[in-house]
This record gives sequence, structure tokens and C-alpha cells, in this order.
Amino acid sequence: MSEKDAYKQSDGLQVVGTGLPRTGTLSLYTALGILGITPCHHFKTVMDDGFPYRQSQRWQQACKTKDAKARRDVIRQIYSDGGFKSGVDYPTSHFVEDLVELYPDAKFIHGIRSSPQQWRKSFNGTIGRVRSSAFYYSCFLFPQQRFSLQPLLGVLDACNIRNFHAGLVSSNDDVEVYHRHNAHVRQVVPASRLLEFDPKQGWGPLCQFLNVPIPTDEYGNELDYPHVNDTEKLNKVLNMMIAVGCVVWVAAIAATYFIVARLW
Ligand code: A3P
Repeated sequence: MSEKDAYKQSDGLQVVGTGLPRTGTLSLYTALGILGITPCHHFKTVMDDGFPYRQSQRWQQACKTKDAKARRDVIRQIYSDGGFKSGVDYPTSHFVEDLVELYPDAKFIHGIRSSPQQWRKSFNGTIGRVRSSAFYYSCFLFPQQRFSLQPLLGVLDACNIRNFHAGLVSSNDDVEVYHRHNAHVRQVVPASRLLEFDPKQGWGPLCQFLNVPIPTDEYGNELDYPHVNDTEKLNKVLNMMIAVGCVVWVAAIAATYFIVARLW
């Protein structure tokens, strides 16, 4: 049986992405999909989960559970209910120490950027915007924002502040959380199970670490390593959400005015 088939047939998480958001997690998610190490959990799994937002609630429960065994039970159940073979991005990368214990055969891929400053610029230019008051109130009438995404992001970052005394949401020159998260990963993941990976390195180191061949197209040419979710593209989505959120506000105010005027 090839290593690739072994990943498919094993139970539980086989590959864990430990990099912070904005370290190429969505490209890694796409790459693991091409390699067949799926389903893969990503923050988009939480975003795609509609009412009653069970994903968000269960991850918030995991964040708030201080007892390690009880917390690990919650985490294991989330992955096993979805049949996940891999997990990248938050919330997964928030629980590295738990995942090392829960999945002794898993390999850990730690996403990094060229510099801490590059990471901070990317974060503040995208997810930092999502955590701003302007975004929160523009999208206030979207239930998923209010009851699923924002509470989970808030709880996760509160844990960062508690554990690392540094938060994801911070000023343009503050890279402490990046340093402290990376140091934590290097401390808790055995070196033999850890690959530090900048997405610009492409398939080579990733496939070598996972012991699988570099994927090719039907003519045998190596595929390009995915490059998705850059600042420009994500900002187009965020700007669209703000615009739609403002239109929904105007419609709600106009409808309220119309109803009150009719009743008067
Ligand atoms: P920028 O914001 O600097 O464009 P994530 O998916 O975790 O949110 O990370 C997205 C960031 O990783 C984006 O950074 C994106 O350009 C970068 N990235 C993703 N894949 C990449 C690749 N193959 N090579 C270089 N950078 C990549």
C-alpha cells in the first residue's frame, strides 16, 4: 500500500497544519485536497456551517474547557464526527499541544512567512479588518457573523492573550503573537514530526515530508503549488460583504419606517 493510500485509510487526523491564519493555510488545504488527504478542516469549515452553528459552538467549548482530557474529548469528537483526515488554520492550529497527544501518528506542517512583518501586514490587511468595529457593525445583520464567526474569533484571541500575553488583533508593528505561537509549536511538536513550510517553497519539501509523489497533470507535468487567498482577492470579498451589509441596513431601516408610518 502506498503512503498516499495509507493516509486515506487511517483513522483520525494524519496531517495537521500548525501555522497561524495568513501563513498559506488555504493553499495548504487545497494542496492536501489534491493529495487526497481529505476531508480537511479549515476555518472555512466553520464559515460553511449554517444555523445552529454547531462548529462554532463546539470550538468555543473547546477553547473554554480548561481540563486537558475533557478538552481533548471535545476536539477528537469534532474531527471524528466529520471524518476529518487533516486540519489546518484556526481553530486547529490553536490546539497544537492537544493534537500532538491525540494523534501520535500525525505529521505537523508549520506554515511560516518570509518575515514576521510580512505576516502582520497580511493579517491586518484582511482578518484584522474582519475584527474591526466598522466590519462588525456593517455586517451586524448577518446572523452568521454575529453568532458564529465573531464570537469564535473573539474567544480564540482571548486564549492567545491568556496563554501568550499577545493577540492576533494588534498594531502594525506588533509581531509578538507570531513569535510566541511559532516558539510554542517548536517546543511541543517533536522535531521528527515537524516541517516548517513557507508556501512559496512549493510541493518539494511538502511531498518529501509526507512521503508522496509531487502531483502531476495528465501529461505528467508537475502541478503548480496552489496560491490562493491573497490579500487582494480576500479584500474584494470583504468589501462586497460590507457593501451588502450596508444595503441590508438601509433596507431594514426603510422597512421599519414604512411599517411604523402605516401603523400610525
Ligand atoms: P498575502 O496576504 O501576503 O497575499 P491564508 O490562506 O492562511 O489566509 O494565507 C494567505 C496568505 O498566504 C496570502 O498572503 C497569500 O498570498 C499567501 N500564500 C498562499 N499561497 C502561497 C504561495 N503558494 N506562495 C506564496 N504565498 C502564498
